[in-house]
Amino acid sequence: MNSIKTILVFLILAVIFSGCVQTNTTTNQNNSDTTNKSMQKEMNEMMNEMHGFNIKEIAKHNSEKDCWLLINGKVYDVTGFEETHSGGKAILEGCGKDATALFESRPMGSGTPHSDNARELLSEFYIGNLN
Ligand code: HEM
Repeated sequence: MNSIKTILVFLILAVIFSGCVQTNTTTNQNNSDTTNKSMQKEMNEMMNEMHGFNIKEIAKHNSEKDCWLLINGKVYDVTGFEETHSGGKAILEGCGKDATALFESRPMGSGTPHSDNARELLSEFYIGNLN
């Protein structure tokens, strides 16, 4: 009777232990997937910074659904930003172009340069340089 109990306890412990290992493996895999993705993103950013984009490549991203701006030699992917941008869809005029003059003068709006706050926001959209 005692040996049956021992076997049962052993089996229960084995089931619990294998569950723990599995959960741990899944968690570790999820963690390393996230780490891999963020490392890959950083690598891409470094490569883009080193090699940069040419004007032909930038020109392909010229729509509301895919909008890159070139401002002062740096490339920004602002796709979707028109929804929260204070100037709304005015930003779309710059898609696929050198939008430096538009950014600095806002001819369709106040005719003044963007604020320092707007300049700080830019870094969130930065994807690389013009080569
Ligand atoms: C082609 C590029 C862009 C154009 C034509 C444009 C145009 C405008 C316009 C018309 C306004 C409304 C205020 C006014 O009439 O002067 C505005 C406001 C604003 N925009 Fe843009 N925008 C552009 C790109 C950007 C980018 C890339 C950012 C930030 C990443 C940005 C951030 C802001 C902010 C924060 C405001 C509020 C006012 C300020 O802080 O200057 N805009 N923009």
